[in-house]
Amino acid sequence: MNFELTEQQRMIQQAARDFAQKELAPHAAQWDREEHFPAEQVRMMADLGFLGINVPEKWGGAGFDMVSYVLAMEEVSAACASTGVIMSVNNSLVCWPLETYGNDDQKERFLKPLAQGKKLGAYCLSEPDAGTDAANQRTTAKRDGDHWVLNGVKNFITNGANADTLIVFAQTDPALRHKGIFAFIVETDSEGFSVMSKEKKLGIRASDTAQLAFDNVRVPADQQLGADGAGFKIAMSTLDGGRIGIASQALGIAKAALEAATAYAKQREQFGKPIGAFQAIQWKIAEMAMRYDAARLLTLRAANLKDRGEKYGEQAAMAKLFASEASNYIAEEAVQIFGGNGYSKEFPVERHFRDARITSIYEGTSEAQRMVIAAHRLR
Ligand code: CAA
Repeated sequence: MNFELTEQQRMIQQAARDFAQKELAPHAAQWDREEHFPAEQVRMMADLGFLGINVPEKWGGAGFDMVSYVLAMEEVSAACASTGVIMSVNNSLVCWPLETYGNDDQKERFLKPLAQGKKLGAYCLSEPDAGTDAANQRTTAKRDGDHWVLNGVKNFITNGANADTLIVFAQTDPALRHKGIFAFIVETDSEGFSVMSKEKKLGIRASDTAQLAFDNVRVPADQQLGADGAGFKIAMSTLDGGRIGIASQALGIAKAALEAATAYAKQREQFGKPIGAFQAIQWKIAEMAMRYDAARLLTLRAANLKDRGEKYGEQAAMAKLFASEASNYIAEEAVQIFGGNGYSKEFPVERHFRDARITSIYEGTSEAQRMVIAAHRLR
């Protein structure tokens, strides 16, 4: 077993850290306050290859491995978790299914501009009645000549208000349940598509989370992604990789909170000495550091399995579950170590605390990850 990063992986990690600390970290608190979508910085990430990080160069991507993706996601998310999820959705939930299930024509027309960062993508699975029960799709797709006609509502869609290209899941025959679900590539300038509303959120406030309406949206038949009835499996296999991305985002938030709390414990004095000299704080730092490391190892293992072409669904669910819970724990303890200052917007840890919360909800709640892990073990 080799725990060493390759030279290229270290280079990508450093490039991500330099970019994130220079272009994201100084603005993250303000963007959070103002719910400002960092469009300019997303364009900069395109130049670094971070919007199609695993996509082969042939299709406009950077051609890096999954471990590099984890390292870059962690650095970006440590500086700005909102930018992290924008990056993660484009890479894991949009580029990956296009590369894996798309034909060459679809890759040329849709994957290339997404991987190059000329366009932005969103993944439309969740609906008001299809959250954890993702197979309960109510958005319908009806065939009409050489088009599909889509009707329905999608909610909690990351990048929904800024995206150009959507991966949309829709039901063609409710009697077939998950076997009736198809996947489609939909452009947001299609007639009948609209952004209904944007969520007001606890955290990741600089990313947009939108409710989207499809009102007789006509989608050319050649924009069906994958085989008839394969939509649910496309959605689930896409989330397997997406969960590694969210685990990496959680790691980034945890790293930022742990580093801030450690520095504060060394510098903040009470009773005539730094608070880090007290066992109460030492035990907190030790527990936070251990959970961060364990989460990181689980996440890198899942990424490494994917890079080696092995099965990784169960390991991705474990990484996402553990890293998101660790991130919540670490951010909460960081707030505690900062005391009153931790509760103030003058310091970054209250943002980390709010940002961490979503990581154990989206791309499958912690409870859904346990369902996935148990299904693997009990099958
Ligand atoms: N890959 C391929 N196929 C898979 C699969 C996978 N990972 N997981 C399941 N399948 C297949 C099964 O083999 C089965 O196929 P057959 O019928 O041929 O046997 C079929 O899919 C149905 O599987 P299940 O019976 O296990 O499905 P289920 O309806 O019981 O659902 C679930 C299981 C784990 C709860 C699943 O619905 C799930 O993961 N829910 C959570 C949804 C989720 O993560 N939503 C996140 C939304 S996206 C988001 O948050 C993005 C964002 O904005 C950041």
